[in-house]
Formats: sequence, structure tokens, C-alpha cells
Amino acid sequence: NQPIYILSIESSCDDTAAAVLQNGKVLSNVVARQEIHEQYGGVVPELASRAHQQNIVPVIDVAMTKAGIDKSQLSAIAFTQGPGLMGSLLVGSSFAKSLALALNVPLVAVNHMQAHILAHFIDEEGFDKPEFPFLAMTISGGHTQIVKVNSFFDMEVIGETTDDAVGEAYDKSAKILGLPYPGGPLVDKFAQLGNPKAFAFTKPQVPGLNFSFSGLKTQILYFIQKNVAINPNFVAENMNDICASIQYTIINILMDKLKLAVKETGIKQIAIGGGVSANSGIRTTLKETEKKYGWKTFIPKFEYTTDNAAMIGIVGYHKYLEQQFSDASTTSKARIEL
Ligand code: KG4
Ligand code: ZN
Repeated sequence: NQPIYILSIESSCDDTAAAVLQNGKVLSNVVARQEIHEQYGGVVPELASRAHQQNIVPVIDVAMTKAGIDKSQLSAIAFTQGPGLMGSLLVGSSFAKSLALALNVPLVAVNHMQAHILAHFIDEEGFDKPEFPFLAMTISGGHTQIVKVNSFFDMEVIGETTDDAVGEAYDKSAKILGLPYPGGPLVDKFAQLGNPKAFAFTKPQVPGLNFSFSGLKTQILYFIQKNVAINPNFVAENMNDICASIQYTIINILMDKLKLAVKETGIKQIAIGGGVSANSGIRTTLKETEKKYGWKTFIPKFEYTTDNAAMIGIVGYHKYLEQQFSDASTTSKARIEL
């Protein structure tokens, strides 16, 4: 039994990433973050594509070197087909195609959102894998979904946001507070020092398992404007409490929907994925449900929460086993269903 080596490439947004997996195990996982976007307060697509072009060869070189294998040993090349920014996706897919062609190995197209979910199947000491069926909540800068995962490639979206993603709610709140982009991790950092009940924000009324976050953002904006008019130092003086209160509201919104999803499906295994699953509040609250409600929760290792290529590699590996290959005419897709 020869080991299967997958080189995977992720370039859907503003991180250029490459990883090498040996079967389900990660040998290397390299990410080049694009700091250029910070000064613009958000990702600038044209700049992202250009930075991917600069970074992709060095990132792959480092991933191969760290893995300690030669290109001739690769079994397949996996890449992110979508969803994401078209210009960013094209850099990764073109490179993957050329490399697969040059090495004469199969090409595997991977759905980025499936990858955030299936990241839980990476072999990692101390991390259990969920059993099918389970519920996955993908929470990132671009998505907020609750998914019923029946098997590796059979997934049903049972709830999703009708406007902003939860990561956007974090980043936009952070911007209102004058914090740099992406502000999610900073709000989380301050939140840990503050009182979550200092200020009350109302939760949106959205039926079923869907989410809405745009109203919360507006509510926070008006709240800050009103208070700054009275005290110009309001934000600086209350940063920790404001962040804690925002975080408390967001976590409540997410938990309400998860509870409903468990009630509706009867499934008590919950996995989270996507950048916002790095959030300390969500991690702690989810862990508490194990004792409280008898759920079994799966929280990915930190480096597999935000965009990375290891998660693309694990999907690539399972698609490789099922011989789900793509031909050279396959195209990137800005939007793509689970
Ligand atoms: O999955 P990801 O890296 O990229 C997308 O596919 O969107 O997610 C990035 C998002 C950003 O909105 C970022 O602010 C948020 O994840 N994020 C966090 C934390 N770490 C990253 N939000 C809240 N708390 C965190 N600790
Ligand atoms: Zn992502």
C-alpha cells in the first residue's frame, strides 16, 4: 500500500495557502496572509489576485520542502474551485492545472465550504472525528450556514444567513469601533476582558434556521453614535464591555439556531468550521453544551479554522479515494452549491 500524497492549493480570498497531506495526515500547511488589505478596511479583489500571483510559487515551495517529499511522489493536485473571488480562484486553479499536467497526475477540484466542514477528518492527535450524520455550522467572513452532513459528499444546507455573514458582523462592528480589518479577532480579545451584560443588543427575529446580522450592525452603529455624542471617549473607555456585549449577542444568536437545529433533526453531534470558529466565546459556549445538553461537539484545531490548504487537502484525499477527478477544462466558480 503506497501512501497517497496530495498537494493542495487554496486561494479563494486573501490568503495564499498550500499543504501536503500523506493520506489523512498533514505533513505541511503553509499560509501567506496578505497584509495589503488592512489599510483598505477590507479585501480588495484586484490586489488579492496580484498578491496570489506573487505568493503562490514560494508558498508551494515551502510546503513541499517542509513536507520533505519530492514533486515526483505526488499522487494528485487538489485546488479550491469556489466559492470565492474569481480573480483569486483563477490563480490557484490555473497553477494547479499546469502542475497536474506537468506531473501527469490527477486534478481534484474542491468546494471551499465542504472543506471547512471536512477539516474535521484530518488525522490529528487529540482530535476526534464526527460520525455521520452530524450538524456543521460554518461561520466565516463570507458564510454562515447550518449544514446536515450525511456523508463526505452528501450535505444539505438547512439554514443560512439572509444578509451578512457572522464574520462580517464582527468585522463591521470592529470598524464602527475604529479597529483595523479584520476586526473579529480583536473584538474577541477585548470581549474576554469585558462584561457581556454591560450593554444590551436585541437579537433579530428570523424564522426557522436562517440568520440575519445586518440589523445588529445598524443597532451597534446607532448605539455608538448616540453615546459618542454624549461622551466623545465612550468607545475608548468602554471597549472591553462593548466588545463583550457584542460577542454575547452574536453567540446567543448562533446558539439559539443550533439548539433549534438539534431539536428539528434529532442530531446531537455538532461541528463548527470557518474563521469565526476560532472565537474563544463560541468555543467555550459550545464545550459547555456537552455537559448541559449531552451534545458532542467538534472544534477544529486553530490552524484549520481560518482559510488554509490542509482542509482542501483532506477533501482532495477523500475525492482521490473515490476517483472524483476533474479534467483540464474545469473552471473556477465564484458561487457554488454545497
Ligand atoms: O474562514 P475565514 O478565514 O475566511 C472566509 O472564508 O471568510 O474567516 C475570516 C473571518 C473574518 O471575518 C474574521 O474577522 C473572523 O473570521 N475571525 C474571527 C476570529 N478569528 C477570525 N471572528 C471572531 N473571533 C475570532 N477570534
Ligand atoms: Zn473560508
